[in-house]
Amino acid sequence: MSPLEGKRIVLGVTGGIAAYKAVEICRRLVDSGAHVVPIMTDAAQHFVGTTTLSALASEPVQTELWHNPTTPIPHTKVGQGADLIIVAPATAKCIAAYRMGYSHDLLQNTLLATRAPVIVCPAMHTEMWEHPSVVDNMEVLRRRGVHVVEPESGRLAGGDVGAGRLASPESIVAAAERVLGSGELAGVSMIVSAGGTREPIDSVRVIANRSSGKQGYAVAAEAASRGASVTLVSTVALPAPSGVEVVSVETAAEMQGAIESRAARADVIVMAAAVADFRPASVANHKLKKHDGPPQIVLEPTPDILAGLGATKPTGQVLVGFAAETDDLIANAQSKLERKHLDLIVANDVSAPSVGFAHDTNAVTLLRPDAKPVEIDLAAKRDVARVVIDTIIEIRASRANDTRTGKH
Ligand code: C5P
Repeated sequence: MSPLEGKRIVLGVTGGIAAYKAVEICRRLVDSGAHVVPIMTDAAQHFVGTTTLSALASEPVQTELWHNPTTPIPHTKVGQGADLIIVAPATAKCIAAYRMGYSHDLLQNTLLATRAPVIVCPAMHTEMWEHPSVVDNMEVLRRRGVHVVEPESGRLAGGDVGAGRLASPESIVAAAERVLGSGELAGVSMIVSAGGTREPIDSVRVIANRSSGKQGYAVAAEAASRGASVTLVSTVALPAPSGVEVVSVETAAEMQGAIESRAARADVIVMAAAVADFRPASVANHKLKKHDGPPQIVLEPTPDILAGLGATKPTGQVLVGFAAETDDLIANAQSKLERKHLDLIVANDVSAPSVGFAHDTNAVTLLRPDAKPVEIDLAAKRDVARVVIDTIIEIRASRANDTRTGKH
């Protein structure tokens, strides 16, 4: 059965040449068993007629915020009832309005009035797609966890060739299937931390570490691709993985606040971040002057976020830590696993070549309280993430089994 079967999908069509392809997207969604609620903006109606879309969708096209014959407040009804909203094509204007929460028409109001996942499928000329304002707006949407089906490169209206062509109807419907799909982690809420924290010394200087955040981003991307709802608490500005909400932080204290306020609702927490262990005890609110001589910087410990989470872990939550070590890798990681009450620790020897910080590859050992260590030889960080996520799924499955057989 298609994951779209019986799902209520709002298809928002905005005013680009590619609006004609929305007709094909609509047909494919309906063929997959979805109930398609079409909305067209005023501009979209310059490109395709409402009759065509109404004939193919599951109900007549809606275009008006006002004068709606069936309900005086159509946007809340449509937005609240949706399982998924797809905007295809999404013009630069639509993307800007959505970024701003500028609710001037039925589609924008519907986008604000929903808690359903949203897939945005941009289409525009290359110059517009690459304009800093559009790039910036897209980045904000990605960081909010909006799914994006990237435009393709190819022939554009007017004979131009370049990036900005609406993705194919097949790939847009495939994205809808992924988002609504019964991935192994569908319905699972996950927090992943990534990057190294920066602890201020004065108004311009920080104590930092070499973590690139790549392994944490790979874990977040892999979890989202398996259907988890992921919040990535990050100190770095890598591109947000599709469908992942990114919360930006800088210091250990900010990371602690962002994670602890969400932790009780999380099914899985993966602390891949390299959190500073110490920070300056006092922070000068101006730049320390060179002519005053080298400062005496007194350090104090930062909160151990993971240990705090381990001490208050709700039943059923899976808690995963990382151990970046330069010596006694397994013994140190094993002791952290026990001390912080973790279900899994990913140990990596960051002094080995091509491993750990800044590299695209990693070699790790996975340790669990009740299972044999698993070694992953040098592999792409995404491949390491895949095994980490497989292990989390295994831990959750064995717990569910224990609950069923009354072991816990
Ligand atoms: O004790 P150590 O810092 O080596 O432990 C590493 C693990 O603990 C990592 O998962 C890291 O994200 C987490 N950690 C933390 N808060 C700290 C230090 C480390 O959550 N202050």
